[in-house]
Amino acid sequence: MSNVVIVGAQWGDEGKGKVVDLFTSWADVVVRYQGGANAGHTLVVGGVKTVLHLVPSGILHPGKRCYIGNGVVVDPEALCEEIDLLKGKNLMQDPAQLVVSENAHVILPYHKRIDAGREARSGAAKIGTTGRGIGPAYEDKVARRGIRMRDLLQPKVLRDKLTARLDEANAQIASLGGEKVELEAVLSRALELGEKIAAHVGDCSERLAHEIERGRAVLFEGAQGTLLDIDHGTYPYVTSSNTVAGNAAVGAGVGPTVIHSVVGISKAYTTRVGNGPLPTELTDALGERLRTVGAEFGATTGRPRRCGWLDALVLKYAARVNGMNGLVLTKLDVLTGLDEVKIAVSYKLPNGKTVTSFPSDPEQLGEAQPVYETLPGWKEPLGDLREWSELPASTRRYVERVEQLVGVEVIAVSVGAERQQTIVRKNPFRHG
Ligand code: GDP
Ligand code: IMO
Ligand code: MG
Repeated sequence: MSNVVIVGAQWGDEGKGKVVDLFTSWADVVVRYQGGANAGHTLVVGGVKTVLHLVPSGILHPGKRCYIGNGVVVDPEALCEEIDLLKGKNLMQDPAQLVVSENAHVILPYHKRIDAGREARSGAAKIGTTGRGIGPAYEDKVARRGIRMRDLLQPKVLRDKLTARLDEANAQIASLGGEKVELEAVLSRALELGEKIAAHVGDCSERLAHEIERGRAVLFEGAQGTLLDIDHGTYPYVTSSNTVAGNAAVGAGVGPTVIHSVVGISKAYTTRVGNGPLPTELTDALGERLRTVGAEFGATTGRPRRCGWLDALVLKYAARVNGMNGLVLTKLDVLTGLDEVKIAVSYKLPNGKTVTSFPSDPEQLGEAQPVYETLPGWKEPLGDLREWSELPASTRRYVERVEQLVGVEVIAVSVGAERQQTIVRKNPFRHG
């Protein structure tokens, strides 16, 4: 059996949760490897919607193991809420189904206050973060002053670490005009949450190694998307982790040689929530139509998503930096009813040059004018179709053109939010 990484090929919210849920039927284990509760992964099964922020999207499959790797920043408050929600739905009855790495860093109230304070201070230049404390928690990790899951289980250790950290954190909060946090309050709540999560805390890296040794198939679930990657995204309008497939190994504690295949997820159009360049953004009635028909409002913050046409330059770039060998196109149904559909195939830059690859210079990107290729649209609703051959000819032509432009095989298309509303052309676990 092979091991597969699922990664967002755009700016997040591509439908990764739905695809991971579906592909879990072929996997034994699902692992989140980066990000935190900034993610919102939506699963719809039998008309019931579940939005997950930290727990891997394989959790609806009884008996399949879910791991939260060392590379994730875990908000214990959000994790407990999610565990309670799942238990309330009679899911995850066996605590052994979910394991959280003892080395995963923890998000505490001061991280959220710093995040909110900075955003409020930045005015129009703000990143537009989810306010979940992600950036400040990763900063602490890199600065070697972070608190980890293991620390929540050791009162003395936690007290010492928080005591060492809070003076500086509070000075920063105060400088941003926020309300300081209080040591005893943070400590007692963190210990309480630690106790609740204790049964799930373990050595993910070692357990994963055992699973892989026994030939179990592992699905690595990316959060955010390639263009939000801290190194490869539209910096500084990015998140604070490496979202690309290469980080799956680091964030799960396995070697890169265990990964056989990388599947990128893209919508059939483009969306972005938060600030930063979006070359194909439509600010007209068509953009509004995509937002309404596609229900493009953030699963974590409820913010309206910015919408636009599909961008082949973005997908080619994502294919390169992730080493993608499969692509899934979601939300094809949202394009139904349009007379014509467009794909950006190049950008015209202010210096008069035309480029066909994604520019790394943010100044150029901000000014880039997309040049579109126009294809015929289709009128038929797609939601009930389950075979590739049943799709309207112009839908197939659209998908095939994307394949050609990106140079990566489209292994599945999604025609609705439900798990079953998917046409799978190739099982990615058979690649390797
Ligand atoms: P993720 O963050 O990549 O997991 O994506 P989100 O869950 O944030 O956003 C994707 C949204 O699109 C969710 O509301 C899904 O239920 C929905 N969705 C996924 N695939 C499809 C599809 O093929 N068609 C439609 N109409 N909705 C979809
Ligand atoms: P999923 O996994 C879409 C965006 C935020 C902001 C930037 C930085 O559901 O695809 P952060 O809170 O991470 O510091 O915010 O990243 N962002 C996402 N956008 N989907 C996500 O996750 C996102 N997670 C963060 O809107 O622009
Ligand atoms: Mg999302």
